[in-house]
Amino acid sequence: MTHTPAQNQTAELTWRDGTLPVSTRFDDPYFSLENGLAETRHVFLAGNDLPARFTDGFHIAELGFGTGLNMFAALLEWRHAGFTTPLRFTSFEAFPMSADEMDKALAAFPEAHAIADPFLTEWAKGTRCIETRDLIAEIIIGDARTTLPAWNDAADAWFLDGFSPAKNPELWEQDLMAEVARHAAKGGTLATYTAAGFVRRNLAAAGFTVTRSAGYGRKRHMTTATKS
Ligand SMILES: C[S@@+](CC[C@H](N)C(=O)[O-])C[C@H]1O[C@@H](n2cnc3c(N)ncnc32)[C@H](O)[C@@H]1O
Repeated sequence: MTHTPAQNQTAELTWRDGTLPVSTRFDDPYFSLENGLAETRHVFLAGNDLPARFTDGFHIAELGFGTGLNMFAALLEWRHAGFTTPLRFTSFEAFPMSADEMDKALAAFPEAHAIADPFLTEWAKGTRCIETRDLIAEIIIGDARTTLPAWNDAADAWFLDGFSPAKNPELWEQDLMAEVARHAAKGGTLATYTAAGFVRRNLAAAGFTVTRSAGYGRKRHMTTATKS
């Protein structure tokens, strides 16, 4: 089933065990049942060879902002690596959560939660281009199939983090993967938790050199790719 977001839609959630947000629209959790932060570090950071590739002005882009956990995980690594200039992070999101929902989800990850406040304060006011001490974040609201083609920038690393390809196929389709490639900088990379065949084929058709590597936890495989 595909979902075509209308304007001004928001996340629809239930909470598993009172802590894990699950989308009722997509019938899928926002991150790993085991340890979302560890999964993010394995899949999206190590999968893009980060923090090793960080340089001043490094720009990450993401499909699916959700709770912001991936952004805060990247910012933690950025700080650990000693950068004081801003990390750039652009994410595409059709069904944004409220600041309170993000805050509740992030509470399960004290490290990430501890640095989230300046961002969440701005988010609660409706700001979607948010600059804090060492972060320039822009969350582009709307269906990524429309908003990404209109984006005039390119990222050094992409996080592909839609819900599972079976439940959210529109975020993995061929045309969108071509747009990801078009908006990847020279030498740009991407990583995703899925190794679904059609996603890998769409990425290869978009001009990425695609590699299957070890997944996180119970997931045997994940996918990384480099712009050819
Ligand atoms: C697995 S969650 C992302 C988790 C997130 N990266 C995090 O750190 O919490 C998938 C996200 O994709 C968003 N999404 C689904 N379809 C979309 C679409 N067509 N365009 C943009 N975002 C979409 C969902 O609303 C959801 O927030």
